[in-house]
Amino acid sequence: VQQRTLVLVKPDGVRRSLAGEILRRIEAKGYTLVAVELRQASDELLAEHYEEHAGKPFLAPLVEFMGSGPVLAVVVEGHRAIEGFRSLAGATDPTVAAPGTIRGDLGRDWGLKVIQNLVHGSDSEESAAREIALWFPAL
Ligand code: CMP
Repeated sequence: VQQRTLVLVKPDGVRRSLAGEILRRIEAKGYTLVAVELRQASDELLAEHYEEHAGKPFLAPLVEFMGSGPVLAVVVEGHRAIEGFRSLAGATDPTVAAPGTIRGDLGRDWGLKVIQNLVHGSDSEESAAREIALWFPAL
């Protein structure tokens, strides 16, 4: 099934000048970029984006980190793009993410309160629809 997924290059990825490398991997895999926008996320946007993590101990540091600089918000399209991008991204913890993945090749643990893992990708069709409407209401 043709799907759209929301990808965010997190502030660590933008700061480390890895946005181009990450877009390159998405395109090289064969997915289509539908929208790309560099933007400074507000606390309100991030609280909505991470509503499933409400009450978790890492939510406050996560929102602080995600607002610490611009993110590159991207809508990616393709057959099974949601699962496909999560596979490209690799496991949440970059220390154990498989080599060959974005997090496994480019990420590491910096010993901070929140895991900095370069990218976000929607985890289901429901979250993709919700997140795309949140970040790109015009799409
Ligand atoms: P992601 O899976 O994109 O979305 C939730 C984020 O919260 C996750 O990436 C990490 O950046 C962070 N995170 C998740 N679990 C933990 C944890 N146990 N400790 C610190 N940060 C976490």
